[in-house]
Amino acid sequence: MISKCLFPVAGYGTRFLPATKSMPKEMLPVVNKPLVQYGVEEAIDAGMTDISFITGRGKRSIADHFDISYELEHQIKGTGKEDYMTSIRRVLDDGVFSFTRQREMKGLGHAILTGENMIGDNPFGVILSDDLCVNEGGESVMAQMAELYKQFRCSIVAIMEVPEDQVHKYGVIAGTSMKEGLYRVEDMVEKPAQGEAPSNLAIIGRYILTPDIFDILRRTEPGKNGEIQITDALLEQAKNGCVMAYKFEGQRFDCGSVDGFVEATNYCYENIYKKEQG
Ligand code: UTP
Repeated sequence: MISKCLFPVAGYGTRFLPATKSMPKEMLPVVNKPLVQYGVEEAIDAGMTDISFITGRGKRSIADHFDISYELEHQIKGTGKEDYMTSIRRVLDDGVFSFTRQREMKGLGHAILTGENMIGDNPFGVILSDDLCVNEGGESVMAQMAELYKQFRCSIVAIMEVPEDQVHKYGVIAGTSMKEGLYRVEDMVEKPAQGEAPSNLAIIGRYILTPDIFDILRRTEPGKNGEIQITDALLEQAKNGCVMAYKFEGQRFDCGSVDGFVEATNYCYENIYKKEQG
């Protein structure tokens, strides 16, 4: 029912310098696949085949990745190496890709607002591909959220419990428990100072947003770190309507950090790559 998914990929990826000096962090490979391809496969798995990227300067290789490489196709045609292309060929067959540039890095909220023309008046998914989510043998995280959307028809954020000393890195929610793993959001704080978090339920990089978010974002003032924060806009939606927070099934790796990236690589090598190789 939700066919569109937005990928904000304009960030600088400073935590991964020098690797990200001339290469987008979204193109860093986790085993043999760039991070962003995992995210796009998750979106397509959830039925969101209309994929829109918010890119920035130095991110052209992302657009190249989601296009045909005629030279390469010609070079490997009829050889055993064609198998290596199976996953990306499937993505290219199933998805439609659009790109627009965020000219100034004014925060995630601003990046999402930049996507308004591509999304229009439709509910849509948002995937931050530096959060790699896997749920081996079960529904992908975005598919779980799309299913919930059918029931609630409001914005949904994916959350997970994090240790107290980590909450300052996240947007954190407080809410009323509706049932196991599902909350109606009452408060939200972006990167709270130690001791000021309303809970240890942290928002990760998966959202479903209703299109009224764009009007709210347009009038959202810069917040934490001088950036236009999606958390601030979502709080307004929560106060005037409804936002749900969903404790997803599966695992999430923070691939924007070196430690999370290495964990994801080990996990994917053992649990995905090796299995695929038989
Ligand atoms: P991060 O906070 O991870 O920032 O952004 P970053 O620049 O990518 O990485 P570091 O902190 O410098 O290492 C969260 C997500 O929001 C996107 C990023 O691309 C990332 O997916 N983003 C952030 C934008 O697209 N535009 C912005 O202005 C800010």
